[in-house]
Amino acid sequence: MKIVSIVGARPEFVQGAPVTRALRAAGIQEILVHTGQHYDYKMSQAFFDDLGIPEPNYNLEVGSGGHAPQTAEILVRLAEVLIKEQPDVVIVRGDTNSTVAGALAASKLHIPLAHVEAGERSFDRRMPEEINRIVTDSISDVYFCVSATAGRQLAAEGRTAHVHVVGDVMYDAVLHNRELALSQSRIVSDLGLTPGGYALATVHRAATTDDPERLGAVVAAFNAAPETVVFPAHPRTRAAIERQGLAFAANVRLIDPVGYFDMLQLEENARLIATDSGGVQREAYFLKRPCLTLRDETEWTETVSAGWNQLVGVEAARIRAAWSTFTPPAEQPPIFGDGHAADRIVAVLQQTPPVFGQTGRPTSS
Ligand code: UD1
Ligand code: UDP
Repeated sequence: MKIVSIVGARPEFVQGAPVTRALRAAGIQEILVHTGQHYDYKMSQAFFDDLGIPEPNYNLEVGSGGHAPQTAEILVRLAEVLIKEQPDVVIVRGDTNSTVAGALAASKLHIPLAHVEAGERSFDRRMPEEINRIVTDSISDVYFCVSATAGRQLAAEGRTAHVHVVGDVMYDAVLHNRELALSQSRIVSDLGLTPGGYALATVHRAATTDDPERLGAVVAAFNAAPETVVFPAHPRTRAAIERQGLAFAANVRLIDPVGYFDMLQLEENARLIATDSGGVQREAYFLKRPCLTLRDETEWTETVSAGWNQLVGVEAARIRAAWSTFTPPAEQPPIFGDGHAADRIVAVLQQTPPVFGQTGRPTSS
């Protein structure tokens, strides 16, 4: 079997790594395609280095751009690769422009399509990611869900065939890399931080960074926090901060994006995590750190129900109040599987390789 795996943005490198390892352990040929959506060393190559991901077979080098040109350019360049490689299956993951372009390219060429992290919904169609998820799920042939909730969402949309709840590949990645991060990252001491004595914050959602009022309120909340706030800023966020001329109080440590090992160490040693990132919300859960989600809704509702994640929106006073008082319960239900999601994905692909058209489309061109 020959598989084309598509990655392009930071979370996809993390999601992809366990699957790449499992595919190769099973002796399955994987052609890795990097769309080039993320390209700075700290947004891309740093993850390949830390996670031991092999060099991509193709880098489409699409770079940044508006949604339409970026998605269209990935689609054009990817179609050429797929026509040349003729894979048996294409794997996309998550909800980025690389995901939806990969899904469209495979689907138009009648190549069976597997979606990892299928069935997640925020129910907010102003989020570009929500559109990417809905489109990708509507044309996938096999669905790998992180949790039972995602499986139920697909069922509610009429998709019940070829749906597999396998757990979260990001949990696989954390379990595999936690000790490596401990031995290889020195970021906590390099930044002069005391374990348990700081908060970690990330913000990069367009809804926050592109709205001066919302970003201003988030920064005001960080400035008012009663502890050091380590804030590795996504380039989109850094640009918005500069555009708006936002100033930080002495307790906020604004730094460049960090690599995966450094991030795991920063998360592991934080007293609290505040974020609008989907991946970081889950990592907070895996590492048993209280999480404040700087959004009005989340796809990861189970972490909220379990009491480990609180939705605080972007209102400074509300964030400030939660910052000092939020305390998760002692127990954590196992929402995200057992750290073997990637093995399950590979086992499903080996036993029942997806067939184009199994979701009801015509099978002839
Ligand atoms: C994308 C995903 C988002 C995901 C995030 C992970 C879409 C629609 N959004 O958002 O779902 O959570 O990645 O981080 O696909 N930039 C650089 N260097 C880079 C990459 C980006 O400077 O290596 C800057 C560029 O100015 C670019 C901006 O960041 O315009 C946004 O990048 P883009 O990939 O379009 O979207 P993200 O906000 O990263
Ligand atoms: N991450 C990282 N360094 C950072 C910020 C995030 O290594 O400076 C990792 C994080 O630990 C997680 C992934 O990137 O594994 C999440 O990516 P991001 O927050 O950009 O996207 P999202 O998950 O929201 O799509």
